[in-house]
Amino acid sequence: MLQNQSHKLLKYSLTKISNLFKLRYLDYHNYSKKIEEVVNIQIQAEQQAAQDYLNLAVSFLHPLKSLHGAGGFFFKMYKEEIDHMEKLIRYQLLRGGLPNICGVDPPSKNKNTTLLDAFKQSYKMEIEITKLLEQGVVIAEGVKDYHYAEFVTSVFLTEQIQSIHEISSHVAQLTALGNNHHALYHYDWKLAKMYPYSVKI
Ligand SMILES: [Fe+2]
Repeated sequence: MLQNQSHKLLKYSLTKISNLFKLRYLDYHNYSKKIEEVVNIQIQAEQQAAQDYLNLAVSFLHPLKSLHGAGGFFFKMYKEEIDHMEKLIRYQLLRGGLPNICGVDPPSKNKNTTLLDAFKQSYKMEIEITKLLEQGVVIAEGVKDYHYAEFVTSVFLTEQIQSIHEISSHVAQLTALGNNHHALYHYDWKLAKMYPYSVKI
């Protein structure tokens, strides 16, 4: 009986301490549940983009296609998205939120994807990611979380604009080349010089 009571008392004290800690911690960081959720949605979007880029990269790197320039470019994009995801995970932890690492949708089949198709797909992905980041800034300003708004603006949005600019010039140039196989071969060769990728293990 006495043991039961002291157990209850201990449990009660621990809950009180834990609630007090949570309250102080969250107050100190001014971190709302809304922003915690926004960051987790962004983490998932970056994870999805990473997987979709990796899927594009391997489809071009396959020996049957051997477009190593495009493969190298999309592999670089995959690594950038992983880096974005990791930055957001670190940010979530820094603010006292819990990163939600969850599954992503299966990739679409890229067997017959041309260079132009791939860059158009990439352009669409970057626009969607940018819109999501901008929505996050609006929500952050709404709850007066100026730090998250500044973090997204300074760390992510400039890079997004540069990325969209680079990808849209690839779309324009590849559209101009049309189905000229010789020109497309040279285009990929130029990409391979900028974004080398080796399958050596
Ligand atoms: Fe990203």
